[in-house]
Amino acid sequence: MVSFTLNAKTVSIDAEPSTPLLWVIRDQAGLTGTKYGCGAGLCGACTIHLDGVAVRACQTQVSDVAGRKVTTIEGLSADSSHPLQKAWVAVQTPQCGYCQSGQIMKAAELLAATPKPSRDQIIEHMDGNICRCGTYHNIVAAIELAAKEG
Ligand code: FES
Ligand code: FES
Repeated sequence: MVSFTLNAKTVSIDAEPSTPLLWVIRDQAGLTGTKYGCGAGLCGACTIHLDGVAVRACQTQVSDVAGRKVTTIEGLSADSSHPLQKAWVAVQTPQCGYCQSGQIMKAAELLAATPKPSRDQIIEHMDGNICRCGTYHNIVAAIELAAKEG
C-alpha cells in the first residue's frame, strides 16, 4: 500500500511500487482528466503536480509519491475557478482537447512561481508540452489572459 495526498484527500493505493502514477490516477483513483499520450515522458499529456512541481505521471512510480502531495487537473480548483481554467474557456483554447489538462497543469506551475510572466517566459516554460492540434497560440493567449486577470 502506498499512501499519499491526492487532490487534498489522503488515499491508500494497493499497487506494485513501480506502477506508473498515471495508471494509479486513472485506473485506481478514477481521475481520467490526466491523459496517456506517449507513455515515455515525451509529450506532457500526463502532467500533474507533485508537491507543486509539474511532473510527468507516466514517468513517476507510485512509490515515489508516498507521503507527498499529488494534484491533478481535477484538483486544480474546486469549481473550475482557477484563473487558467477561466482563461482557457474565454480563449476557447482547445481543439481536440487531449493535451489540454497537461498544458493547464504545466501553466499553473509557471503562474504559481511567476504570476506575470513575459511571453518569452511562457513559451520557454511550456516547451515540451506537445499539442498535435497546434493550439500553441491559444495556449499562450490563455496564459497571458490568466496572468492579466489573476
Ligand atoms: S504520456 Fe507522459 S509524457 Fe507523454
Ligand atoms: S488540442 Fe488536440 S492535442 Fe492539443
